[in-house]
Amino acid sequence: MCGIIGYAGKNQAIPFILDGLAKLEYRGYDSAGVAVVGSDGNLVVEKCKGRLQVLREKIANGDIVQGCVGIGHTRWATHGEPSDINAHPHISMNGKVALVHNGIIENYIDLKKILSENGYTFKSDTDTEIVANILDFYYNGNPLETIQKVIKMLRGSYTLVIIFEGITDKIYAVRKNTPLIAGISKVGNFVASDIAALVSHTRDMYLLEDDEITEVSSEKINIYDIDLNCVKKDIFKVDWDIKSAEKEGYDHFMLKEIHEQPRAIRDTINSRISDNNEIILDNIDLDLENIDKIYILGCGSAYYVGMAAKYAIEKSCGMSAEVDLSSEFRYRFGENTRKMNPNFSGVKRDLRVNKSTLVILISQSGETADTIAALREVKKYGAKTLSIVNVVGSTIARESDYVIYTRAGQEVAVATTKALTSQLSLVFLLAEYMARKLGFIEDTTLIEDLKKIPEQVENLNKSENKIKSYAEKFKTSDTVFFVGRGMDYPVALEGALKLKETSYVHAEAYAAGELKHGPISLVEEGTLVIAVATQDELYEKMISNIQEVKSRGATVLIITNEGNTSAEKVGDMVYYIPKTHELLTPLLSVIPLQQFGYYSAVLRGLDVDKPRNLAKSVVVE
Ligand code: AGP
Repeated sequence: MCGIIGYAGKNQAIPFILDGLAKLEYRGYDSAGVAVVGSDGNLVVEKCKGRLQVLREKIANGDIVQGCVGIGHTRWATHGEPSDINAHPHISMNGKVALVHNGIIENYIDLKKILSENGYTFKSDTDTEIVANILDFYYNGNPLETIQKVIKMLRGSYTLVIIFEGITDKIYAVRKNTPLIAGISKVGNFVASDIAALVSHTRDMYLLEDDEITEVSSEKINIYDIDLNCVKKDIFKVDWDIKSAEKEGYDHFMLKEIHEQPRAIRDTINSRISDNNEIILDNIDLDLENIDKIYILGCGSAYYVGMAAKYAIEKSCGMSAEVDLSSEFRYRFGENTRKMNPNFSGVKRDLRVNKSTLVILISQSGETADTIAALREVKKYGAKTLSIVNVVGSTIARESDYVIYTRAGQEVAVATTKALTSQLSLVFLLAEYMARKLGFIEDTTLIEDLKKIPEQVENLNKSENKIKSYAEKFKTSDTVFFVGRGMDYPVALEGALKLKETSYVHAEAYAAGELKHGPISLVEEGTLVIAVATQDELYEKMISNIQEVKSRGATVLIITNEGNTSAEKVGDMVYYIPKTHELLTPLLSVIPLQQFGYYSAVLRGLDVDKPRNLAKSVVVE
């Protein structure tokens, strides 16, 4: 989604801003812009629709926008189509304030009314322009007081980075429900929406919280709370490998990240398994005996990981776990749900979230708006929260009671690959850890097999040409079905999502048993069906389902375990994954589906790393 950077220093701001925006391109955007305070104190704004390169050319790489403090933005349209006018920064009607914004201002229509009544007019369709003008309207010459007043009026989510006319040495920033960090460096000080924008200049950052107002100059970064008291914060040291943000010879980040999976899984599990196969999960100390309900939440691919976690927890721990989309769950269990009568004298059977509920939240970015909202909601009811997050120091990680980090490194491609398999490896480890805590006999085979996964993934990557040839064969297909049962069902869902995201092919995933209940009517001569069939106890059922689609003309690719040669009698193509523990199969069966998504996009000539309409982290509802 939108990317933000701000700079205050002794050097020209624009080169730093353009460099930072380039690092944020991966988040997805449709327009870009910059603004500086010129040496005469005037605000200068330049912006346009399209890629960053278009902006670079327009401003001659910064030569025509001079100033030592500045702000920059890549926009992913929410209010108003992608256009030059709707691009950020937005400047107020009187030229006193310019700002960039990430998020959505929900009450912008009410604020617009106040402004219109006071003679303000607007150029764009955005909620952001309203904020610039509200700041302008209330500006009393003191930026901190003005920002303090205005944020009390805003509803919704925002990261705002603001410059003021006449203030040639400072920028201001504030956040609510969307990310913001500040970076301290020798070349000047920064704020940004994402660590990636700053790591080439500094590893020393402040992680800013909601409603904190940050004032950045070349000398220092001052942070204030909503009452304008100074806030003291520890510096957060970022330990990212800078190479994560480079393609290192690969054509695309997605391909690089597919190939990084053995390393990512190894880094995620190795330090958590001792030589004698004990599981050490960071500082997690779950009082499982007092937990009677488990919810697992996430969005998109993270939700599919949650489905796999549910199967693993239920099979390993003998307790049921419910998985839900964060965007649905947050309203199912929100404040508006029915309350218990406090005077009721019978046994209270409120089965909703409470102190004996464990909520597991899964997120690569740690900044997904719906997952953050679900986390905050369940905390109100005293639930224990455990998050599985990739980005260190992100909001979900900070606000959960416990966090276990995946160690995938920065994931740049919009379509997740290495974060997903790292999450899967961690949820399987977590399920085994929980089972042991609950008194179940140790499943050492699972741990031994988990340790073999990185090498097995490496081998699957070496034979990617086989999948590439299938992608070539079906490059004109406009509909593909993915089916699976049990642990193979979330894999089918993930395979379909990968193909949709990267290749814009209509891809549907079904639990194979559901085909006869409707979707089979869509199968016709030549329809490609990809069937994932790795679960021994469900294998024969899968074969029957495959025969049903075959007899209606489908062409079937079966992904199954080595040794299941009977698949060759029914499938048109069979792809074998090496033998592993039944619960771990998604870690292997998902690899060919990632490759299929990737090569299908490449063969269609599409922008694999930045698919249309999508953003890397979804920080608005
Ligand atoms: C996956 O390829 C997607 N880009 C998307 O579904 C993603 O998994 C989802 O938006 C959740 O993001 P998160 O893991 O950062 O919370």
